[in-house]
Amino acid sequence: MLIKRRPAIPPSEITPAGIYARRRELLRAAGVLAAAGAGGLLSGIAAAQAQKGPAEKLPPFRKSSFSTNEKPNSFKDVSSYNNYYEFGTNKTDPAENAHALKVRPWTVVVEGDVRKPRTFGIEDLLKFPLEERIYRMRCVEAWSMVIPWVGFEFNQLARLVEPTGKAKFVEFVTALQNDTMPGVRLPILKWPYTEGLRIDEAMHPLTILSVGLYDQMLPNQNGAPVRLVVPWKYGFKSGKSIVRIRFVETQPKIAWEIAAPHEYGFYSNVNPDVDHPRWSQKTEKRLPAFFANRKTELFNGYGDQVASLYAGMDLKKFY
Ligand code: MTE
Repeated sequence: MLIKRRPAIPPSEITPAGIYARRRELLRAAGVLAAAGAGGLLSGIAAAQAQKGPAEKLPPFRKSSFSTNEKPNSFKDVSSYNNYYEFGTNKTDPAENAHALKVRPWTVVVEGDVRKPRTFGIEDLLKFPLEERIYRMRCVEAWSMVIPWVGFEFNQLARLVEPTGKAKFVEFVTALQNDTMPGVRLPILKWPYTEGLRIDEAMHPLTILSVGLYDQMLPNQNGAPVRLVVPWKYGFKSGKSIVRIRFVETQPKIAWEIAAPHEYGFYSNVNPDVDHPRWSQKTEKRLPAFFANRKTELFNGYGDQVASLYAGMDLKKFY
């Protein structure tokens, strides 16, 4: 999801074409391509191999009735076409560069308006009852995939910290590793990347924290070691590589909203009736298709489960 850059304007007005065309040039000028991929010398294939290392095994998981029966995209589709701007703005950059991400040790601090603030190690998170959740995921850029995530419901973690009555929203803060993330040297977004949900959205059983993909630990480019997944919202709501979760009273500002408020709102529910200024939301291409091949559904087809969260709300206003 690129944001356009006009000359001499603040990051909040960045436009995509400019950034896209000048991306490598800018990265080179900032001396950050060298930081990516072991001196920038590794090819995509070598980088992918470098990421493999001794494979850590995903704990056992069960299937879930919340999964769609649609055919999942291949592991290759899901792990090679990504948005993870900390590693570059091209769809293939995360798969090439994210092997550098340091995913151990990893902790997630849970704090704010809670009775029992707590820090979870990744080992603790892997002990939650894991389920396979095959979800349709739709990006605001009008492509979609069906992804077999493995994870657990966010509400299970939330219950352990006991949110107080003051907690109305949840903010998700993602990792900022200056030494492994070439993209954060550019003011494309406000780093660290943050996301937010209303508390009832966060506690909904469809909202999961994912630690795996197919039967493997989550690949770095997909947000290892733990990322949010909210299937009725555009893909960008699903923050990757989470390090901090805050229960808060007031609506947090999210990374895309800060960067381009005229394009991205807090709610970001999939909605064919609310067009994005640059991409129609009426149809989508289910990858690996090249052209739009299906109609986009309200709430990405999860309306039966989530529409009641928005009863009485003007979804054009609260986009
Ligand atoms: N999380 C972080 N930390 N940084 C990002 O750039 N991109 C978002 C979201 N989470 C992003 C992120 C966007 S725009 C999308 S579409 C999804 O991740 C893509 O997730 P996927 O690559 O696993 O499909």
